[in-house]
Amino acid sequence: MSQERWTEVDRYIEDALLGPDAALEQALAASSEAGLPPIAVSPAQGKMLYLIARVHGSGRVLEVGTLGGYSTIWLARALAPAGRVITLELEPAYAQVAAANVQRAGLSDRVELRVGPAIESMRSLVAEEAGPFDLVFIDADKQSTPEYFTLALELTRPGSLIVTDNVVRGGAVADAATDDPRALGMRRFHELLSREPRVSATTIQTVGRKGYDGFTLALVEPE
Ligand code: SAH
Ligand code: DHB
Ligand code: MG
Repeated sequence: MSQERWTEVDRYIEDALLGPDAALEQALAASSEAGLPPIAVSPAQGKMLYLIARVHGSGRVLEVGTLGGYSTIWLARALAPAGRVITLELEPAYAQVAAANVQRAGLSDRVELRVGPAIESMRSLVAEEAGPFDLVFIDADKQSTPEYFTLALELTRPGSLIVTDNVVRGGAVADAATDDPRALGMRRFHELLSREPRVSATTIQTVGRKGYDGFTLALVEPE
C-alpha cells in the first residue's frame, strides 16, 4: 500500500461523500495563493470534525491552530444555534487569510480569531473564564500538544470532547528512540493521557492524502 493509493482512495471518498463545496474550495485556493503550507485537515477529516461537533451538539468550540481557517469553517458550520468558535493562531498573516476565508464562507459572526502564541491565548481564556468549551480541536505546533491539552482541561467540563490531530506522525509516536520534537510531543501527550483520570481517550491511526498519521479523541469524565 502506497501514498498514491491512499490519495486515490481519499479522492474516491471525496467524490462519493463530500461533493463540491465552493466556500471550502475557495478557502484552500486562497490559502495556497497566499503561500500557506498545505497542511489543513483533509476534506474527509474536516467532515469528521463537523460530524463529531454535530453529534455532540457542540455550541462552544475552541480550536488551537487556525492556519487558513479550513477546519474552522467545518467546525463553525456544525455549531448548535448561537454557537461560536474561538480559534487561535500564532501567525498574523495566516490569521488574515483565515479571516477572509471565514468571511467568504458567511461565518464571521460565529468565529472569533485570536492572534498570538496559543499558550498565552489559552491562559487568557482561563483568566477570562471564557469556558467551558464543549469541543476543543488541538492542531497547532506538535511539540506543545501536551501543554495545550493540559490547558484544554481547564477550559472544558465533564462531557466535553478534546480532539487532537497528528498524533501518530508516520508511526514515530511508537518509536522510543525518536528525536523528532514533534513525535516526542506526541509521546509526552500519550504519557499524559495514560495517567490522566479526568479523561477517557483513544487514538485512531489514519492513512490518506496527508500520509500516515492519526487523531486522539478524549472525553472529559465526571469528577
Ligand atoms: N487547523 C488547521 C491547520 C492548522 S496547521 C486546519 O486543519 O485547517 C497548524 C497551525 O498552527 C499553523 O497555522 C501554525 O502557524 C499554528 N501555530 C504554530 N505554532 C503556534 C503557536 N505557538 N500558537 C498558535 N498557533 C500556532
Ligand atoms: C503537518 C500536518 C498537520 O496536519 C498539521 O496540523 C501541522 C503540520 C505536517 O505534516 O507537517
Ligand atoms: Mg493537523
